[in-house]
Amino acid sequence: MIIEAPIYKEIYGALRIFEVQKVIKLDTETETISNNFLYNIPREKIQNLMRDLAIVVPLKDELLITLDGVLKAIPHKCPIIIVSNSQRESPNHFRQEADLIKHFATLTNSNVMLIHQKDNGLAKAFEKTGYHAILDKDGYIRDGKGEGMIIGLMLSKMIGAKYVGFVDADNYVPGAVNEYVKDYAAGFVMRETPYIMVRLHWRHKPKIIKKKIYFRKWGRVSEVTNKMLNLLLGTITRFETNIIATGNAGEHALSMKLAEHIAFSTGYSVEPYELIYLLEKFTNGKKEKKDAMDIYDKGIDILQIETLNPHFHEEKGQEHIRDMLLSSMSVIYNSALANDELRDIIKRELKNHGVRIKEGDIKQPHVLPSISNIDFNTWKETLLSNTKTLLVFERN
Ligand code: GDD
Repeated sequence: MIIEAPIYKEIYGALRIFEVQKVIKLDTETETISNNFLYNIPREKIQNLMRDLAIVVPLKDELLITLDGVLKAIPHKCPIIIVSNSQRESPNHFRQEADLIKHFATLTNSNVMLIHQKDNGLAKAFEKTGYHAILDKDGYIRDGKGEGMIIGLMLSKMIGAKYVGFVDADNYVPGAVNEYVKDYAAGFVMRETPYIMVRLHWRHKPKIIKKKIYFRKWGRVSEVTNKMLNLLLGTITRFETNIIATGNAGEHALSMKLAEHIAFSTGYSVEPYELIYLLEKFTNGKKEKKDAMDIYDKGIDILQIETLNPHFHEEKGQEHIRDMLLSSMSVIYNSALANDELRDIIKRELKNHGVRIKEGDIKQPHVLPSISNIDFNTWKETLLSNTKTLLVFERN
């Protein structure tokens, strides 16, 4: 792959946030491209890295045909972990997903894992290891994409993955999914620190407008989220910036070393919160713990890669967009780094986008602490002895 070299970056404490790097050529061989502004990452290097890259697919009642396309597009070397929160009664959608996944795994001889988010074994494993934040009042795992991602992270750790990438299950274009995974791997090959996050910026997000396809550059939610995150950065440094282009990047990946030290937030606020958490925690110079010192010493790289493929996914309507906007804005609004001026701008943006807010509506979404304090062996043993939905297919 030829990709623009990570040239321009901004530094915030331990974080190095790189400007968007465009993919110039998707697939290249080993010969070197001698150009200081481009990076050549031969396909062999990308392939080798994929062995250690688990792909987590959060899933909730999506079309089976999009799930099927996504699974078939994930490169064969990557283990796949599907965390489903789909309905199990009338009709049993989860059962249909399990059939499809079983058929796919045996047909393609792939490494695949499937679990249901409401599996009692999962709830017991988190309960026993004191990670109560993920449980609801009845002791089940809470609903939400962020919650599904934490489960995916734990399962990735269980299979020894060094990197974890997330791919949504509602993507209409399998070829795009295939590229996303290669972009993650390319980002990790370029790494200069063990603490790295790769966030994808879609080249276009097409919509049908007046019966014609229109290649929009920005999604409506991401446009606002990026603007507000950039203003937040401006409050830290007093210098305005436009460095953040991936505030809502559902498609993103992390090294396990970074993933273990990051807190997540519920539902769709998860992606902007990852950035906010890192900014809050690693820009103030506090070095309380030994592992935090290592992060300060080595730094955290945030890479933003612009894909070659456009992003075509299932549209879920205005209400969904407004929910996503409100939860994205809530994590920025409630950040200790935000000031009153920024909070006023956020309120105005929400109103302009038709989100009706009453006093107290912009609440801090539920936060799920980092998984670093979970006793992993106890978690794993508890899960394996209590699970009723875990399916594991291993490559021969
Ligand atoms: N396990 C699990 N549990 N998965 C879930 C849940 C849940 O409770 N809710 C949703 N998902 C899955 C969906 O099935 C899909 O695969 C993925 O999470 C994303 O959810 P969507 O509802 O399809 O979100 P979206 O497509 O509107 O938004 C996506 O893109 C945004 C950026 O434009 C998401 O990735 C957002 O997180 C992202 O900000």
